[in-house]
Amino acid sequence: MARVDYTERIPNNVSLAENRRLLRALEEWQPRYLDWWREMGPEGFQARDVYLRTAISVDPQGWAHFDWVKMPDYRWGIFLAEPERGRTIAFGDNKGAPAWQDVPGEHRGTLRRLIVTQGDTEPASVEQQRHLGRTTPSLYDLRNLFQVNVEEGRHLWAMVYLLHAHFGRDGREEADALLQRRSGDSDKPRILGAFNERTPDWLSFFMFSFFTDRDGKYQLAALAESGFDPLSRTCRFMLTEEAHHMFVGEAGISRVVQKTCELMREHKTAEVSRYGGIDLAMIQRYLNFHFSVSLDLFGSEISTNAANFYTAGLKGRFEETKKTDDHLLREATYPVTCAEGGRIKVAEEPALTALNERLRDDYVADCQRGVDRWNAVIKRHGLDAELRLPHRGFHRAIGNFADLHVSPDGRVVSAAEWEAQRAAWLPTPADQAHVASLMTPVVEPGKFAGWIAPPARGINSQPVEFEYVKLSVRAGEEGRHG
Ligand SMILES: [Fe+2]
Ligand SMILES: [Fe+2]
Repeated sequence: MARVDYTERIPNNVSLAENRRLLRALEEWQPRYLDWWREMGPEGFQARDVYLRTAISVDPQGWAHFDWVKMPDYRWGIFLAEPERGRTIAFGDNKGAPAWQDVPGEHRGTLRRLIVTQGDTEPASVEQQRHLGRTTPSLYDLRNLFQVNVEEGRHLWAMVYLLHAHFGRDGREEADALLQRRSGDSDKPRILGAFNERTPDWLSFFMFSFFTDRDGKYQLAALAESGFDPLSRTCRFMLTEEAHHMFVGEAGISRVVQKTCELMREHKTAEVSRYGGIDLAMIQRYLNFHFSVSLDLFGSEISTNAANFYTAGLKGRFEETKKTDDHLLREATYPVTCAEGGRIKVAEEPALTALNERLRDDYVADCQRGVDRWNAVIKRHGLDAELRLPHRGFHRAIGNFADLHVSPDGRVVSAAEWEAQRAAWLPTPADQAHVASLMTPVVEPGKFAGWIAPPARGINSQPVEFEYVKLSVRAGEEGRHG
């Protein structure tokens, strides 16, 4: 059962062939998905062979198969992690009851909303990144971008499967709406703010993959604990794919930092922009931006919605089953950062309503580990500099700090001071223009743009100079895939 049948039109490990109605509904959705992919997926390159991995089983070991694929021919499918025999709900009022195989009627609307909100982020990121192929720093990076893109497409499939299989007509309508919203569109925007921001350049892309995709990892991890078993199993397999997206972001920034350090040493200056690099101060400003907009994705610090999701058994904590408390949290408290009278302080709040903040804390700790590894690169070059996560109150649009001006080092400042410092704290038009000026494509195998170091190793044991995307087109193929 772990292996996936690729002879079917929709590869799957959920016995789709045995449910004719569902199969037919998904087969009707499939061409609409492909239309969306052609219209909103990576611009150009659709007719090129890309060295991509495809899921061939859901075993944690060895699920991936690498081959040359034209993106529109990618075998998007439906893969759920293996069922856990006798799985019970691990938290909330239904703790200890058998996990639900069908949607409980009283939680139908809430579950659908959770699935739609998650599902909406997947095509959104493909849309945000669709122009990046034109300015790739290397073939290696181009492949990684497309790998992330096709897998976000598959994550959309994962959520659409749940909507079609478990939510009847309104599920089907939601599945269609997922193909109709557009990132950044004023009439039909994507649901969450960060997914309507532009991803205009590769520095932003790496920051997005590190910070914003990582929000996705934590949301999926919380949904993987769900008492609704199909959602849990879907998210568990999505997390194995997500690990590569985290890698692309972390390693991408690490390679930018490395190149910057090399230029700093070579030219004995921190201002490496004039040598075709990206100053650490500029990297810090991009980091400040992407971290702060990603923090907003976790929602308000105090949230009765979050409490209700948990109590109902729909959305757990990160690593819920590894925790040793009562998994009810009715009496427990949790420390929450807030501001009072112009000072930032920590207050104990009921743990149930503080669950967003708790998930955000797990996320922040994970981000910090990545920043530490970037700083180790700087240290290895013997340079006295450091990247830092800004304070969680900095540049926030949602929650306790939304109406305040907080500096990156965590002081509540006046609006005037904030404005005076903005150019030191957030990417400036000059930063953006400089980064944009570096975005000239490099597509010779083994060659890399001057602002980023090559990776330590290639993908799937291939050499770094491997031809990860075949740009040469044989006669008659051009234009076949739009
Ligand atoms: Fe995803
Ligand atoms: Fe992702």
